[in-house]
Amino acid sequence: MRMYDVIYKKREGGKLTRSEIDYAIKGYTSGEIPDYQLAALLMAVFFKGMDFEETLGLTEAMVSSGEKYDLSGFDLPTCDKHSTGGVGDKISIPLVPIITSFDVIVPMMSGRGLGHTGGTLDKLESIPGFNVNIGKKDFLRLLKKNRTAMIGQTEKIAPADKKLYALRDVTATVESIGLITASIMSKKLAEGAQHFIFDVKFGSGAFMKTRALAEKLACSLTKVTGIAGRKAAHVLSDMNTPLGNMIGNRLEIVESIDILKGGGPEDSRNLTELLAAKMLVITGIFRTEQEALKEIRKRYSTGVYLERFAKIIEMQAGDPRVIENVGLMKPARNIKEFKASRRGLIKRMDAFEFGISALMLGAGRNRKEDHIDHSAGIELIKKEGDKVAKNEVIALLHYNNENLLAGALQRLRAGLCIE
Ligand code: URA
Repeated sequence: MRMYDVIYKKREGGKLTRSEIDYAIKGYTSGEIPDYQLAALLMAVFFKGMDFEETLGLTEAMVSSGEKYDLSGFDLPTCDKHSTGGVGDKISIPLVPIITSFDVIVPMMSGRGLGHTGGTLDKLESIPGFNVNIGKKDFLRLLKKNRTAMIGQTEKIAPADKKLYALRDVTATVESIGLITASIMSKKLAEGAQHFIFDVKFGSGAFMKTRALAEKLACSLTKVTGIAGRKAAHVLSDMNTPLGNMIGNRLEIVESIDILKGGGPEDSRNLTELLAAKMLVITGIFRTEQEALKEIRKRYSTGVYLERFAKIIEMQAGDPRVIENVGLMKPARNIKEFKASRRGLIKRMDAFEFGISALMLGAGRNRKEDHIDHSAGIELIKKEGDKVAKNEVIALLHYNNENLLAGALQRLRAGLCIE
């Protein structure tokens, strides 16, 4: 088999066989097929798509590229959540303490920022010491002792996806239903949970720009889950405007702590509660979402969620004192006010532009080897739908590098419409 022929076939709209998919994935993972050929295949897939059989084949090839965890020995139900990515989407962070307080095991394997979207791992690493690089033995030990482990994909879990994910991030080939399905499901199936909740985003800041496409992606994820003998539920959520008030790694931990106290912005707290309720229903802890929601809300005042978060941080070598003192996560040196140029109503606050602006401040990566600045980001003082007076502050830009500011401000202006 020749990689050239596989690329050519897909470029012409052909359907790849399982052995062609295996050949490309095995060859790329082992380093025999170079980045540029895989990038060409990804672009061909992006334009020509993959049918469900190809998507399933790609998922299986990527699962088989690494090891699988077996969680069948645990007495408690296992459930993981996955978001398809957004701007200001920190929901996994408050969700895990909430769900584990109900005796559900959450084996959470997350990713890093991808394109204009943030990643849970980068956010968690804003907490001093927090270690997401945990191998199989410690992962299973943490699940047993603490009902969760919030980790990155190890070298051994779906290594094909790990390499592909980084390549897609820098070759504009992320937004493909087949590629996203295989990427997410290869990690989820290898990680071993029996239940999944998918938060599939749509809108300008999501990989799926329309609700209809998000629905398609949700169906694709659910179908692969079912074929693998696991159970899934999903939520379609709006990502036309940033979620919550904070965009950027450290800032999103600050907001997560507020949510765990029962505070924080309404949109991000509501989505956390909705996803939590669905997880508690799918795992059989509650019969209905209403019952689950009632109990979830009751527990804020007990402090149990913060205790759980502190324990999770501590068990992963982080400093749990950040919960009481967010200043222990080093803030950015500078803050710039972004002000309204006129009086009116904020008609549009575009998630994509705001996401790119945060990335340009240092919160995300332009190239896969880039380091990020955990303290950089955007704090929204106003949200879409709010009224503003001329010169009123709309957002605060947290930054360390003065040279990055002008570009970031330009993207904010491009993403804002006041009428
Ligand atoms: N999240 C993933 O894990 N993979 C994708 O391709 C997109 C979002």
